[in-house]
Amino acid sequence: MLETDVLEAFQDTMRHIAAPVFAITTRHQGQRYGIIATAFSSVSFDPPSLLTCVNKDTSIHDPMMSADLFCVNVLGNINRDVADCFAMKKGDDRFSVGEWIDQHDMPVLANAQSSLVCRTRDRHRFGSHTIFVGEVIAARHRDNAKPLTYYNRRYIDISQAPDLA
Ligand SMILES: Cc1cc2nc3c(=O)[nH]c(=O)nc-3n(C[C@H](O)[C@H](O)[C@H](O)COP(=O)(O)O)c2cc1C
Repeated sequence: MLETDVLEAFQDTMRHIAAPVFAITTRHQGQRYGIIATAFSSVSFDPPSLLTCVNKDTSIHDPMMSADLFCVNVLGNINRDVADCFAMKKGDDRFSVGEWIDQHDMPVLANAQSSLVCRTRDRHRFGSHTIFVGEVIAARHRDNAKPLTYYNRRYIDISQAPDLA
């Protein structure tokens, strides 16, 4: 397989993996920053920890390199407006849609499916991205939320998926 074929096949693969959608946020020197991300994994329960991969070219990258904390907001279907706002706006204007509250001084989306405030425990540069490993220090969760999902370049509602049975 040629190199370009591998890249295309990888991109095609990733496009067809349905992924939950996150608003990654932080605050640094009084300024709020946020991006939409799908690159997320839990790492361990001991300690409770997760990772997210952030492109070095994004506005949140350098603040996340300096800040001690960040927040992973797991978006539900009702937070689609927040995802759209993040895509259309820049800087603090990204927080103009949705009710954003402070927890540990981090921007937390009040009606997200879940919000996990993390202390950054490790930063690992790889290729175009930095992998941020965070230890969860505070968590909020909304029962019965339906996850916003990204699939084949668009947002879908997996609660509408037909039963497999
Ligand atoms: C559904 C979706 C998933 C994304 N996932 C990631 C991601 O995991 N990591 C990342 O660095 N950027 C990701 N992006 C891109 C950033 O959200 C986008 O490039 C960023 O907001 C633009 O950078 P800026 O903050 O400098 O404007 C994703 C975008 C979308 C729409």
